[in-house]
Amino acid sequence: MCGIVGYIGKRDTAPLLLEGLQRLEYRGYDSAGIAIQTGGAAGKPGALKTAKTKGRVRDLEERVPKRFSGTAGIAHTRWATHGAPNDVNAHPHLDPAEKVAVVHNGIIDNAAELRAKLSADGVAFVSETDTEVLVHLIAAAQAESLEGRVQEALRHIEGTYGIAVLHADFPERIVVARNGSPVVLGIGENEMFVASDVAALVSHTRQVVTLDDGEMATIKAGDYRTYTTEGSRTSSSPETVEYAAESYDLGGHETYMHKEIAEQADAVDRVLAGRIDDRFATVHLGGLNLDPREARAVRRVKILGCGTSYHAGLIGAQMIEELARIPADAEPASEFRYRNAVVDPDTLYIAVSQSGETYDALAAVQELKRKGARVLGVINVVGSAIAREADGGVYVHAGPEVCVVSTKCFTNTVVAFGLLALHLGRTRDLSVKDGKRIIEGLRRLPAQIAEILKQEPEIEKLAKKYADARSMLFIGRVRGYPVALEASLKLKEVSYIHAEAYPASELKHGPLALIEPAMPTVAIVPEDDLLEKNRAALEEIKARSGRILAVAHQEQEKADHTIVVPKNEDELDPILMGIPLQLLAYHTALALGRDIDKPRNLAKSVTVE
Ligand code: M6R
Repeated sequence: MCGIVGYIGKRDTAPLLLEGLQRLEYRGYDSAGIAIQTGGAAGKPGALKTAKTKGRVRDLEERVPKRFSGTAGIAHTRWATHGAPNDVNAHPHLDPAEKVAVVHNGIIDNAAELRAKLSADGVAFVSETDTEVLVHLIAAAQAESLEGRVQEALRHIEGTYGIAVLHADFPERIVVARNGSPVVLGIGENEMFVASDVAALVSHTRQVVTLDDGEMATIKAGDYRTYTTEGSRTSSSPETVEYAAESYDLGGHETYMHKEIAEQADAVDRVLAGRIDDRFATVHLGGLNLDPREARAVRRVKILGCGTSYHAGLIGAQMIEELARIPADAEPASEFRYRNAVVDPDTLYIAVSQSGETYDALAAVQELKRKGARVLGVINVVGSAIAREADGGVYVHAGPEVCVVSTKCFTNTVVAFGLLALHLGRTRDLSVKDGKRIIEGLRRLPAQIAEILKQEPEIEKLAKKYADARSMLFIGRVRGYPVALEASLKLKEVSYIHAEAYPASELKHGPLALIEPAMPTVAIVPEDDLLEKNRAALEEIKARSGRILAVAHQEQEKADHTIVVPKNEDELDPILMGIPLQLLAYHTALALGRDIDKPRNLAKSVTVE
């Protein structure tokens, strides 16, 4: 969703900010803008120049005048919440005197109330945004310093924000603040960056400081300082970003989705690296903060996530039940947070998120923490909001995922759940023999993934055959059902073909009515104790002239086509069975000419309600 970039230093700011905005495009947005501080030096006021537009960053580039130089600036990509996506509502927002410019991520909950008060005082609003109230509050603040004015304004604000503020009278600084929306400082050589996402910074510096909620910072070309919104100094030491700038590039692929699917064998290697303990047939998960006694005391596991992360959680819950024999289930975090759920002290709650920023998941975690629950995170983005809020957890080390549609992170999250299930199992009754069996299975995954990816040319041909479908049914039973759910989400997100997932066991209870030649079924058919039941479902579909594409461990006689995947341990099979269906979704979308990396109406990180 919205993105922030800022720069202060000796270099020409506009090109740097535009490049930063391009790196944030993957998050999804509908308009973009930039404000540059020109002239001025310490003690002498400068002036602010702005350009903004509805549309893409390349449209903004065209609007930025040639003479747009300056050595400090802020820029933004906006995902409309308050007010339509148009030039006026695009950020940065300025006060009438054009002294203050603000870019803002998040939502100001009491914006309507503040707008009414300010309007009654004679303030004229130009946009429909919630952000504009903040601009007027800063402009009206009485404190001497810019920091003081921002603090004064923030005292009126209820809601979430990540902001960057430029002021013509304070040309040598940018002031930023965070509450519920990420703000990261990038430390360069006599230059400083700020962004809402490290992706915008890593081509310039890998030394970063992530602000906490309630924290602010002043950045100048040569230094920075952090403090609370109340003004007390805070100490934040820089950390090194794990991934280099190239990890955010296409690396020779046509799309990020293709690149990220192709990276999965290496990504799984990373989530396993250094964690397996052969001696005790278990794994070490350093960040879990759960000693064996505490692990044994867990009576239930409840997993919360949204979209693909929820689907990974469904597989994780099955793995935990199977390997650790702890009752476990998964629920969409977006539902859980609204239903005043009973929070049980003996339940271990696990929040799952690629971005670690998804608002619904974060809100669920905060509600659980408020009620005294222990919450772990299974997260990809290191240091993200949910990772910081959780009591401990497992990083999934999928690396940067740029495509809006999640692929490699799903796979790595499920592998991370395999590790967690094994760990919990081995603190309970899972035998050494079974522990070793699962470890061997985990070790086989990268080579098996590489084997599946080699089938891409055949899967591409299949995708072309099925691309004319208006709707598709995905079925799976027990371990196969979450795979079907995730595969159907992938197809609909990226190809816009309607797809529905059903438990194969439920076919007779309704969805069989849909079966006809124009409604193909994708069936997940693992070779486990339910194989014959799954084959019976294929018979039922075939008897009604339905077309079937099976994903199975051997050719399925009743299917029109079978994608054969390598067999692993029964509990780990779901990790592999979804991968060919990522390729199917990709090639279907390609055949239909879709905007694969940025599907319509979707954002990579859903940071609002
Ligand atoms: O960053 P998160 O894992 O918390 O995101 C959750 C969902 O928004 C996300 O998985 C979404 O469903 C993706 N578009 C899936 O491809």
